Formats: sequence, C-alpha cells, structure tokens
Amino acid sequence: MDIYRIRGGKTLSGEVQISGAKNAALPVIVASLLARGKSTLYNVPDLQDIRTTIRIIEHIGAKTEFDAEKNLLTIDATDITNGEVPYDLVKTMRASIYVMGPLLARCCEADVSLPGGCAIGARPVDIHLSGFEKMGSTITLEHGTVKARTKGLTGATYKMPKISVGATINLLMGASLAKGETVLENCAMEPDVVDLGRFLIKMGAKIEGLGTERIIVNGVEKLNPVEYTIMPDRIEAGSYLLAGAACRGTVTVTHAVPDHIRALIDALTAMGFTLSETKDSVTVAPGRSLRGLLVTTTPFPGFPTDLQAPMMSLMATLPGISVIIETIFENRFTHVPELLRMGGDITIEGRSAIINGVPKLLSAPVMMSDLRAGAALVIAALAAEGESEIRRIYHADRGYEKLCHKLQGIGADIVREKGGM
Ligand code: EPZ
Repeated sequence: MDIYRIRGGKTLSGEVQISGAKNAALPVIVASLLARGKSTLYNVPDLQDIRTTIRIIEHIGAKTEFDAEKNLLTIDATDITNGEVPYDLVKTMRASIYVMGPLLARCCEADVSLPGGCAIGARPVDIHLSGFEKMGSTITLEHGTVKARTKGLTGATYKMPKISVGATINLLMGASLAKGETVLENCAMEPDVVDLGRFLIKMGAKIEGLGTERIIVNGVEKLNPVEYTIMPDRIEAGSYLLAGAACRGTVTVTHAVPDHIRALIDALTAMGFTLSETKDSVTVAPGRSLRGLLVTTTPFPGFPTDLQAPMMSLMATLPGISVIIETIFENRFTHVPELLRMGGDITIEGRSAIINGVPKLLSAPVMMSDLRAGAALVIAALAAEGESEIRRIYHADRGYEKLCHKLQGIGADIVREKGGM
C-alpha cells in the first residue's frame, strides 16, 4: 500500500484548480441509466469511487468509456437489467444504493446488496426504502440483499423523517419516471442534489423546487440521453482552503463556486483569516489575530460534515479553544486519536470535540481511517514540524483527484511512495 511522506512547515501559496464533484458525479453517472442511449459527462473526476460506480453500472448492463485524462465519461444505457450488484462492490461505497431508483423505474425490480456499516457510523438506508414503498414498491431483505419490486412506480407525497442527501437523490431519480406527481418534503438542499436535478431536467424530467426543502416531480414517460458537465467539488475546494489556512499561506482555489462553501468562508473569516472571492474562485490569506471558533455541522447551507475533520486540523493550530459539534454522523471523530499523536490537544465529549490550539503540531506516523479523516491528517502533517508518514492513503484516493500533484503545485513537500502498511 502506498504512503504519503510529508515534510511539514512549508508556507503554501498559489492556485489549485478544483476538480468535478465526486458527490455530484456519482448520482449523475447512475442517473444516466434512466435514459436509453448514450450520455456524455464532462468534468468527471478520476477517483476510486467513480471507478467503482462505473463497474457497478457496467454490472447491470451499461457500456462505458472513461477517458480519465480528459475527465470524460460516456455511458450507453440502452440495455440495462437487474443484475444483483454484488456485496464486494457495495461494501466499498454506500452510494451503490443509488442504482435502486433507476432500476425500479426502468426494470420494475432492483436487487442491491445492503451496504454495511462504515467507519463514520451506522448509516442506514431506511429512508430510501420507505420512500420507494410509498411510491408503490414492496421491499424485502433476503440474505443481506434488498429486493425491491414494483408494478410501476407511482407518484406520492413523502416527508423524509430526516434530511438525507442519498435518499433525496434516489427518490428524485425514481420519481422522474414515476406515474403522476411526487412531492418530496424535508429534502436535502446540498448543491450535489441540485446538480443531479439539473441533469435530470436536461434529460427531460419535470422538477420544481430544487435547492429547497420541497421538491415536486411530475413523472414523464421517458428521459433522453444528454451531455452534461459536473459541478466543481466544494469539499475539495474547502479542503485546500483549510490546508492553506493551517499553513498560514495564501491559497486560491479556482473553478470553484463560492456560494457552495459560504459556511466555510464565514467560519474562516470569523477565525480571523482574510478571505476574498471572484465569481469562481476563493482566496484565503492569514489575518492579524487568529482565534478559535465553535462550529456545528448541519445539512446545507450549514457547515458540511465532510469538512469537519479537515477543519479540526486547522483548529488544532489556532490560538485558544475551538469546539466542533458533529450532528450528522455519530462516529466521525476517528481522526482525533491520530491528531493526538501529532501533538493535538483535543477531547471528545459525546458528539462534541473540544480543541485546545497548540503552538505547533509535531510530525508522526499516522493512518487514515476514512476519506475526510485522511484529508485532515494531510493538512495536519503539512502544518506540523518535521516529517510525517501517512498510511492507508487509499482512503484519500476515493475523493481527492491528483492530491499529491495539486499540493506540490502550491509548494507542499509531499511525495507518494510505494510500500507501507
Ligand atoms: C452523503 O452521504 C455524502 N455521500 C457524504 O459524503 C456526506 O457526508 C453526507 O451525504 C452528508 O452530507 C455521497 O454523496 C456519496 P445522508 P449519505 O443520507 O447520502 C442518516 C464523503 O466523505 N440516514 O445525508 O449517505 C445517516 O445515517 C461522504 O464524501 C438515515 O438514518 O448521507 C446520517 O446520520 C461521506 N437513514 C444522516 O441521515 C437513511 O435512509 C445523513 O445521511 C439515510 C440516512
């Protein structure tokens, strides 16, 4: 397994071009299955999760071509069938449950191995399933596989008991080809959901209320294959801004959407950093007097849980006390023991982490436990004094395109080496 070797303490400076959004590309790729014919997707990031999703949709009959250098993916979904998506693929990526919407809509049946627990919490899929039940499906669980059957999805009114990005995405896909009107309430308002909605509308779907809590979908008989460009990755953009801030550098993320990371921009400003933006870029620079902050993760437009771990690494370097309250996932502090190894002063109390900033983090061998925890360790190592070795970097490969290359471009001393545990 490869490792990252990082010599910290360098001041980062320069521009990073942001890639297409993983969490928008995943549902858009799966939604291509809703139309017979060939869709063309641009700005698809070359990431492990994208490659897994491509394997999943090929498994159910799609023909794909991925030009990773050009970030160009074509998907021919003329013939798809309900081939059970095997556990080996599902277990690496929860988003595999997304195939349920298109399979039910086009084949009237879907067999998907139930995604298990994961490093950041139990993450059930009950909201996806009760939504499809409301829309006229019967659902059973047999030997670890969810089996959904329908005589044809029908429109319904469904208020999700909790805001869920994945369930909103899945039900939006199903509703687009369902008979009649579907009203989804308590919807996720994340930009990734909006990007998927725009893709569906381009395909011919009738959707109103994207980006609000209430989305109304009037089902159509068929959707058409289209060309579409995936939006920029707000979590990647946020992670580079946090890396810049942690190293007290001046870093600009380009090809980004400032409004997608408004909560982060506000938090960095409140901490005393200097932020500036254009319509598609954001720059962070050090401020005169930096201080800790209280940050609570909440659904969009609140502070994103996916930036919680990277934010904690920055907080570990700020004067004073910071607090993070994680309200989305129950077990998303697995980076904390590793940050302690690097000299962080952090205490966990239930869903809160209390971070007492230290003058300098110290290098250490550390291990990634999930994607965003991984980003947090990279940021901590960049800010720390000395040479750190980061293991299990396959987690970062799931969500950060050309991480090493992009960081080198802004002056980081980071190399990827073969070997390690
Ligand atoms: C998406 O996960 C993202 N993944 C996650 O990013 C992100 O952390 C999360 O949304 C929250 O923003 C993708 O887009 C592929 P949820 P998702 O359904 O859809 C509970 C990353 O690092 N819930 O919004 O799985 C759930 O347990 C990843 O890129 C149910 O109880 O998240 C959680 O507590 C990690 N029942 C909360 O809702 C359900 O049926 C929000 O989860 C579904 C969810």
